[in-house]
Amino acid sequence: MFRRPVTDTSTTMDCARADDIEAVADLTGLIGETPLVSLRTLIVQPDVACYGKVEYFNPSGSVKDRIAVALLDDAERRGLLAPGATVIEPSSGNTGTALAMACAIRSYTCVIVTPEKTSAEKVATMRAYGAQVVVAPNVAREDPRHYTRVAARLAAETPGAYMPDQYSNPVNALACRQIGREIWRQTRGRVTHVVAGLGTGGTACGIAAALKGEDPAITVVGVEPGGSIYGGGEPRPFAIEGIGRHYIPESLDLSLIDTIENVEDDEAFAMTRRVAREAGLLIGGSSGAALVASARVARRARPGSVVVAMLPDSGRAYLSKIFAGPPA
Ligand SMILES: Cc1ncc(COP(=O)(O)O)c(C=O)c1O
Repeated sequence: MFRRPVTDTSTTMDCARADDIEAVADLTGLIGETPLVSLRTLIVQPDVACYGKVEYFNPSGSVKDRIAVALLDDAERRGLLAPGATVIEPSSGNTGTALAMACAIRSYTCVIVTPEKTSAEKVATMRAYGAQVVVAPNVAREDPRHYTRVAARLAAETPGAYMPDQYSNPVNALACRQIGREIWRQTRGRVTHVVAGLGTGGTACGIAAALKGEDPAITVVGVEPGGSIYGGGEPRPFAIEGIGRHYIPESLDLSLIDTIENVEDDEAFAMTRRVAREAGLLIGGSSGAALVASARVARRARPGSVVVAMLPDSGRAYLSKIFAGPPA
């Protein structure tokens, strides 16, 4: 068992022995402490051990539950969110889903602006949690119709609205330090490499800050799609969601990332489909990209290395996009 429900003492004791009931006050109490799964059947490299950190175990289904709650807690502490306020955020879908869940629990109105390429499943999920979803066209960031600009405009126009802005908010990477601490503990301090997709960069930078504090020799490998420019490549369109951009967000501190691997859409999606069939691990496209990059890292690594791949979300969010049609 990697999670243990805690006794809920927050509700009124209106029945006998209510304090004996094993329950959480709400599902945000189950965020984090996600499992590591061995990848030994998928990445076969003598004397190198590979593991995946399966973030779809978080309550709304992705790594972004960790930051959503931290962003709301921070805003509440700073008095930026009055009861019933509106939270507005640009998101490629997972932060939006996590915020939609957390806002439902805390009774905030939630508005998410997402780019057109976001999967239909993610848009439907955000709406199911009660969020209003604005779909913005896939245009350059300079264009006022870009999802980040639409969100900023809506936040400025809506009285009492707050935009956490994961792309510039330091709380994003700070909240992700916990993932590094979990990896350190779960690998008994033997981790040598972490491979993580780069979107806002919060996940990779938070992990890097935590792990390099334990052992500066740990290598953090960032992963971006071919066509993203973080590693210096030329911009072109790509289909993988959540990672890569045509600009470097403020939240991405490249000085914490040791190397960057580029993975093309087709190799990421082929890997994503393969691991579902061969290992029963139903993950999203950015997770598939992290596994392609991890296989490269494992090939180059010294004997005795321990490689951990971040697997940010579930394939259920991409059934119509990655898994439709006969197996490739
Ligand atoms: C599916 C998926 N993978 C990876 C990432 C990258 O995480 P980060 O923004 O922390 O770099 C995201 C971010 O939204 C995502 O949605």
